[in-house]
Amino acid sequence: MFNEKLPKIWYGGDYNPEQWDKEVIHEDLRMFKLAGIDVATVNVFSWALIQPSEHVYHFDGLDAIMDNLASKGVSVCLATSTGAHPAWMAREFPDVTRVDSEGRKRKFGGRHNSCPNSPTYRKHVALLAGKIAERYKDHPALLMWHVSNEYGGYCYCENCAAAFRKWLQNRYGSLDKLNKVWYTAFWGHTFYDWEEIVPPNGLSEEWGNRTNFQSISLDYRRFQSESLLECYSLEYDELKKHTPNIPVTTNLMGFYPELNYFEWAKRMDVVSWDNYPSLDTPVSFTAMTHDLMRGLKGGQPFMLMEQTPSQQNWQAYNSLKRPGVMRLWSYQAVAHGADTVLFFQLRRSIGACEKYHGAVIEHVGHEHTRVFRECAELGRELQLLGDGLLDSRLESKAAVLYDWENRWGVELSSGPSVGLKYVDEVHKYYDALYQLNIQTDMIGIEEAFERYDLIIAPVLYMIKPGLADKIEAFVQRGGTFITTFFSGIVDENDIVTTGGYPGKLRPLLGIWSEEIDALYPDMHNQIVMKTEFGPLSGEYSCNVLCDLIHSEGAEVLAEYGSDFYQGMPVLTRNKFGAGEAWYVASSPEASFLQGLLAKICLDKGIKPLLVTPDGVEVTKRTKNDQSYTFLLNHNAAPATIHLPESEVEATDLLTGNILSGAIELAAKGVIILKQQRNE
Ligand code: GLA
Ligand code: ZN
Repeated sequence: MFNEKLPKIWYGGDYNPEQWDKEVIHEDLRMFKLAGIDVATVNVFSWALIQPSEHVYHFDGLDAIMDNLASKGVSVCLATSTGAHPAWMAREFPDVTRVDSEGRKRKFGGRHNSCPNSPTYRKHVALLAGKIAERYKDHPALLMWHVSNEYGGYCYCENCAAAFRKWLQNRYGSLDKLNKVWYTAFWGHTFYDWEEIVPPNGLSEEWGNRTNFQSISLDYRRFQSESLLECYSLEYDELKKHTPNIPVTTNLMGFYPELNYFEWAKRMDVVSWDNYPSLDTPVSFTAMTHDLMRGLKGGQPFMLMEQTPSQQNWQAYNSLKRPGVMRLWSYQAVAHGADTVLFFQLRRSIGACEKYHGAVIEHVGHEHTRVFRECAELGRELQLLGDGLLDSRLESKAAVLYDWENRWGVELSSGPSVGLKYVDEVHKYYDALYQLNIQTDMIGIEEAFERYDLIIAPVLYMIKPGLADKIEAFVQRGGTFITTFFSGIVDENDIVTTGGYPGKLRPLLGIWSEEIDALYPDMHNQIVMKTEFGPLSGEYSCNVLCDLIHSEGAEVLAEYGSDFYQGMPVLTRNKFGAGEAWYVASSPEASFLQGLLAKICLDKGIKPLLVTPDGVEVTKRTKNDQSYTFLLNHNAAPATIHLPESEVEATDLLTGNILSGAIELAAKGVIILKQQRNE
């Protein structure tokens, strides 16, 4: 439980009453009660209001908001406001604004525009967080701290350049070492003085997402992610000084590319994230993102910090969430481990760029709207659920590996193909398990592997020190490991491991990859099965990249069907110790992956949670001797689900009905089955 003060699934969201007339809050509070809203995230963007000049702080406005909320029993997720610096600060202390990737000095404007290595910004965020913590530490409404907002973006200013040089000295010790790991003999880049080093951007090594020197760009990403994390930590430490027991979070953004969230999560008490799928985002992609957010802290429950009750304003086409979809997607988050359901935002802005962003209370200002009714209905349900689900965990035998630095390596790569998208390849494997109803964790490379029976690491391009040994030990003990084309290629500095691909993974996989072919988007090759393997037989299509591999002891289960490498292996399995290591040498169509993973899971005894019709998602959370099976119907039509015969009674948590046999799930409907655990 994040905070025992509120032992239920927290319900509410971002609330910005500083934007409208002071009296409106009373009307809002009336409606919060109608909607079962018990948490408001406030003070996200009020820095300029609180601190009108360098030495002056005004808290009256925030005091009133906090007191009003407390008076009606609404708890507060209190933000520190540092997501947008005040205009006076940018004018008086120009070091706070960033220099962008084209080398342009930014002016005041927008948000998230502060340089993470600005002495002014660092000093003032710590001061402000400390003052807020001191003032509200004993406030009855305080539930949780929310540091800044959606950290992101990089800076390329002189302060960042100087800090980068220090960071490099710390990491590499000497210029000799740096020249080596950056491969500076290429294009005459040898550095003789640390001062010669400049940030990689549009003025130096980079254009768009491309770079001349992967190692330099990779280090700059590590450095900037750490710089922003240091800013977060400055605030974290101030908050903890005053309130050691109030949990601290900052809202993350799923697969956001620029920050290494596994490192961030180490400094967060609770992971929280903002979920904004479009109407056409695959539901399995959202599921995977929830699982990644849960995986950041080893499976601990996380917070759904933001989602829109209805539509966005910043997508190209801001479709309304269809009736029932907000509820369904809220439960999808809970089904994957969220213990909160929070919105952006509770009342709509009437000016600036978010005035057409959905909100619980819309411009009309009363509760007689479809969106409000749906929100109030969900609010009632969450009250009924009480604390039952809190802290329950998902248990998975299968895991998909995801690594931000690996992603940077793959995406910065010049060749072999612009068509290779790391996250898409990860999603293909996740989706196959999802369609099979195999519960899956998304894990980082530091996670304990022995918890799992199956680990899949799509496009594991970068092998950091110790990783190959860790994977070998996992397989040695009986684990099944699957990896793909373009794996084992480089070390942590993007320097190729020589002696044959897939480098350090070669003994484990029992193959040698001699060449890598890139296919144009309309080109395909075929995976031709040599014999049947479970549901797999005949031919499947593949594309993106094709590794031309030779077996060095691995069993060949399928071969390429065409081109000059027809007959070369495309699917191999190598027995290694008590386990096996698979190599999929190209990017297969979905039916192939589903067939392959169905058979591998069957052989390993990894069972689907249930068999359900297409479009019906299932997950299971467990706590003590109870299990909670979530059935989520993403279809626009009702679905029938056949519950397996069981000694154990299944209660529908939302209605109290006892269910068995064939059960009906409404279109966009949700059922949570509560059972005594029988395992
Ligand atoms: C983000 C931000 C919010 C708001 C929403 C709009 O998630 O954190 O402040 O701008 O987007 O969707
Ligand atoms: Zn900077």
